[in-house]
Amino acid sequence: MKLTRRPRRLRGSPAIRRMVRETVLNVDDLIYPIFVRFGSHIREEIPSMPGIYRFTLDELEPEIREVQELGIPAIILFGIPEYKDEKATSAFEENGIVQEAVRLVKKLAPDLFVITDVCMCQFTTFGHCGIVKDGKVLNDESLEILAKIAVSHVKAGADMVAPSAMMDGQVRAIREALDAEGFTDIPIMGYSAKYASAFYGPFRDAAESAPKFGDRSTYQMDPPNWREAMREIELDIEEGADIVMVKPALPYLDIIARARERFDYPIAAYNVSGEYSLVKAAAMQGWIDEKRVTLELLTSIKRAGADLILTYFAKDVARWIG
Ligand code: PBG
Repeated sequence: MKLTRRPRRLRGSPAIRRMVRETVLNVDDLIYPIFVRFGSHIREEIPSMPGIYRFTLDELEPEIREVQELGIPAIILFGIPEYKDEKATSAFEENGIVQEAVRLVKKLAPDLFVITDVCMCQFTTFGHCGIVKDGKVLNDESLEILAKIAVSHVKAGADMVAPSAMMDGQVRAIREALDAEGFTDIPIMGYSAKYASAFYGPFRDAAESAPKFGDRSTYQMDPPNWREAMREIELDIEEGADIVMVKPALPYLDIIARARERFDYPIAAYNVSGEYSLVKAAAMQGWIDEKRVTLELLTSIKRAGADLILTYFAKDVARWIG
């Protein structure tokens, strides 16, 4: 047989494979989500997310140190407040759980990049991402509150805000509010194409943020749609987003890939709680090789076109590839 093209020539040794490798996962790509809660002396593991904890602030320092030592450049904070009301008051108070956590982390680790999730679902009695009236989630009424939340996070020292409520115009409202306060240099990472996904289940246990009635399908995107995702991303860019996000990641690699072709902006992908729990559950059964499966999955997110990956695996990955 006279074969001229033999692709196996470039697979023959670890060295040649390294040389022709097209995608390399890097610690610099990772953003680690951290849950903080009110109270003291609590570090509780989230049952559906083995290895992930809710921390009270007095328990947070070792976690922050570990993240730093592993070289992970950024965290995103989620807060579980002491009380909820109809206006999400606990989300924008000066001494709210997220604001206090931001201050603490910036004191402990000034160089760690602190991102905050800007949303209302953990802070409202109804557990929706906006203000509710007569059983409806109101859009424009929610924007003012989202803007207040974002400003309060930045006043506490947040380096970037990430609006995740999927209210129309949220990026613009936040950009205008930040600019009016003089925070013109603080970037916004929009949860631009955020789907109404069943993969958020474990997160809602962790953050106590499940909706009390209905679901999020009147504001989060319908999973079968991809063209609409392009419009959402385009809108966020027009409104002033500096980084755009696709969420979840693995079931939406096509969205990431299409966004990569169309938009010359940094793209983040959120490898969400359910994606993490699936892998952990199978690994705990001994059914899969956790390290190889995780690295393969995260590399696929990067190969699809994501620059940044928000993932509960960040510490594991940093240890494996560090
Ligand atoms: C808040 C928010 C959610 C997630 C991130 N920000 C939950 C939701 O929209 O219900 C999900 C993250 C995850 O599942 O890991 N709106």
